[in-house]
Amino acid sequence: MPATVICGLQWGDEGKGKATDLLASGVSAVVRYQGGDNAGHTVVVGDEVFKLHLVPSGVLHPHITPIIGPGVVVNPRTLLTEIEMLAGRGIATDKLRVSSAAHVLMPYHVALDAAREGAAASTGGGIGTTRRGIGPAYGDRAWRTGIRMGDLLEPDLLRDRLAAALTEKNVLLATYGADAFALDDLLREALEWGSQLAWAITDTTALVQHALAAGEHVLFEGAQGTLLDLDHGTYPYVTSSNPIAGGACTGGGIGPLQVDQVLGILKAYSTRVGSGPLPTELHDAVGEHLTEVGREYGTTTGRRRRSGWLDFVPLRYAVQVNSVSTIMLNKLDILSGLAEIKVCTGYRIDGRLVDEWPLNVAQLERAEPVYESFPGWTEDISACRSVDELPAAARRYVAAIEERAGAPINVISVGPERTQTLSVDAGRVTSARRGTGAVA
Ligand code: IMP
Repeated sequence: MPATVICGLQWGDEGKGKATDLLASGVSAVVRYQGGDNAGHTVVVGDEVFKLHLVPSGVLHPHITPIIGPGVVVNPRTLLTEIEMLAGRGIATDKLRVSSAAHVLMPYHVALDAAREGAAASTGGGIGTTRRGIGPAYGDRAWRTGIRMGDLLEPDLLRDRLAAALTEKNVLLATYGADAFALDDLLREALEWGSQLAWAITDTTALVQHALAAGEHVLFEGAQGTLLDLDHGTYPYVTSSNPIAGGACTGGGIGPLQVDQVLGILKAYSTRVGSGPLPTELHDAVGEHLTEVGREYGTTTGRRRRSGWLDFVPLRYAVQVNSVSTIMLNKLDILSGLAEIKVCTGYRIDGRLVDEWPLNVAQLERAEPVYESFPGWTEDISACRSVDELPAAARRYVAAIEERAGAPINVISVGPERTQTLSVDAGRVTSARRGTGAVA
């Protein structure tokens, strides 16, 4: 019963959408297990670019059942807009399934996120969230005041739960000077969501378990990345869910022993959007090169991403906490043209040399990176189709990453298109890509 988890090894935006797309031919279902419409997965198919926030990117393949698992917070307005957008572009969404246990991200969650971030930003603080209401929605889940997708189909229960929620939310919103929500209006809209999505709302855990029991290959698609994980990231500058591979268990409905392989997605350099430490951040022409050549602008918010050199310290940590089996290295082509490429091998913190990822954000903010330098290459590598075609300097850089990361690199991407992909060997990822569903 092969189950593959795809997760980001950095601060998100590593190119997980492309990884899902490459593996898609051999899988029967793709499951989103955490996050919400804060995510933005870009998939390029020929001339067409698809930007998806909630629907798993597997939807682009007619044989795949796209599943939104219990660990996701679902904004029904976004979901319905996305379904309509896909239908308008000729993509069938009738196989989509949404867990009845997934929490509904309500308009008051969005309003609270915006109000709180706005207030914090005016004093120079804040997390720099996507303002999609993610934190408040997961907060309600933990407070047990949330409303779940299945509740949208139960009018009496929905009215009671919404009334209870609004009693608190409207008071809180008022403290920020934000408008209150009217129960009747919101109830009417929520019931409408229920009637429009009833066909998709179901027990997705049972679906996933049946698929695995039948020997089908199921892909669990993480959003964001390890360093934005609520428990393992740079808290408090994190998202409110668990993007790490373990999140696929809690948020996807499987047990740890059902995970067959974990594919870690790594970008050839670092980026981060929003506030929080990025020890290798560059404020020079190289940082400008990475952001501009790499088109590092958020899919969801359009915000400019901060960029810097690849950092081995959190990479080793990410490989460990995700128990990564293989790595897909993305955007190697963006480094072409840089005379020198640096990688961070450790930090100097308060005069001490540190090579383990500090969990304390204050220490991370004081961390001075220690770099090792590699020669760059001038050749455009976006047309390379095998590792042998890469310049020797690029191969050396890849080898150095593999040696330090603690997991093999099996796939290298040199451009956004499906064809711009190099298989490093005939290993596990390659066999899944060929559509056999086999995972060695
Ligand atoms: P939230 O998830 O909107 O609450 O934002 C929390 C932090 O996670 C902020 O720094 C966001 O910029 C970041 N974040 C959320 N979603 C993504 C994503 O899909 N890619 C990269 N960063 C993200």
